[in-house]
Amino acid sequence: MTDPGERLRSSLAAADQGAPGDFDSPIAMEALRATRVLHAADQDPFPAPSRLRVITIANQKGGVGKTTSAVNLGVALALYGLRTLVIDLDPQGNTSTALGVEHTVGTPSVYDTLVGDSPLSAVTHATTASPLLTCVPATIDLAGAEIELVSVVAREYRLRRAIEAYVHSLPEERRPQYVLIDCPPSLGLLTLNALVAGDEVLIPIQCEYYALEGLGQLLNNIDLVRAHLNPGIAVRTILLTMYDGRTKLADQVAEEVRNHFGDLVLHAVIPRNVRVSEAPGYGQSVLTYDPGSRGSTSYVEAARELAERGAALPPLEPGKAPAGVAPPSYGDLSASTDSSTENR
Ligand SMILES: Nc1ncnc2c1ncn2[C@@H]1O[C@H](COP(=O)(O)OP(=O)(O)OP(=O)(O)O)[C@@H](O)[C@H]1O
Ligand SMILES: [Mg+2]
Repeated sequence: MTDPGERLRSSLAAADQGAPGDFDSPIAMEALRATRVLHAADQDPFPAPSRLRVITIANQKGGVGKTTSAVNLGVALALYGLRTLVIDLDPQGNTSTALGVEHTVGTPSVYDTLVGDSPLSAVTHATTASPLLTCVPATIDLAGAEIELVSVVAREYRLRRAIEAYVHSLPEERRPQYVLIDCPPSLGLLTLNALVAGDEVLIPIQCEYYALEGLGQLLNNIDLVRAHLNPGIAVRTILLTMYDGRTKLADQVAEEVRNHFGDLVLHAVIPRNVRVSEAPGYGQSVLTYDPGSRGSTSYVEAARELAERGAALPPLEPGKAPAGVAPPSYGDLSASTDSSTENR
């Protein structure tokens, strides 16, 4: 009998060339996809970014997939070979839950860095998803941070300074290549800290009613932050989430978003997939919970695009805004908001 490992390898090669190989039933194909995801770094690592990328995942609209995207993009980047740090900046602590990181009261967390004096190294935890993935959890204490921060000096820069100090404290081969910051659904001081800390914003947009509503306000805030606090910040990525291919509405929203944001929108679209919503209940990402699911493979595709774009970015001179990348123009969103609300 042939060695099963050998059979799997030859089937993977056959599947790559479009041939069915030994694994041609739906379950076997799913197993194949799972194998691809879980042994990703050996087979097909993502390209490293030309510089550290600090990506703020923001949308003040609730429940659009910010946390799900922070978790699954983070796990995908790490599984495919890139050192990644995910910072949970939402007092709900859902990112910490999904990455299986303790976040009960008293756990060293991002609160201790923002409001206290803990360096990021003291609040960064390992994850089980990948040795390349670390997480700074959020505890419920963070709920008071918006108020406590008001009297703190240079309060908008707390997170930025902490990330800079952390990165510089590490030897080059251990420095994160990606930092993903999961924001709460509001535009308060926590989100402001994340916008000041980031080089770029990723906005997840749910393919649903009112998708673009309120987005104008977020974009205005980003413009204000760029004008006054962080000249390098701009929206660089839009990710369409919870796409339901059975509805016409999902297509309309996707088209509208692509018309507005053009190349900023990733080609990969995240489908509505029950495995994605089940995974956090097991303290896991969908990539580790059900690696062969459509939710998992679409997050891998989105992360791959993100990484490919990152590899093409010009290197950053210390203390300078990214050269040669003018902030994109988003156009007037009000018309679009109106048309999306017409779908009610
Ligand atoms: N692709 C998907 N398929 C199915 N369910 C999803 C998908 N993405 C997210 N969900 C579910 O939708 C809900 C909202 O997602 P998530 O928590 O990521 O949004 P959020 O923007 O972080 O929310 P909040 O604004 O409250 O922080 C969660 O229950 C999540 O499991
Ligand atoms: Mg969230």
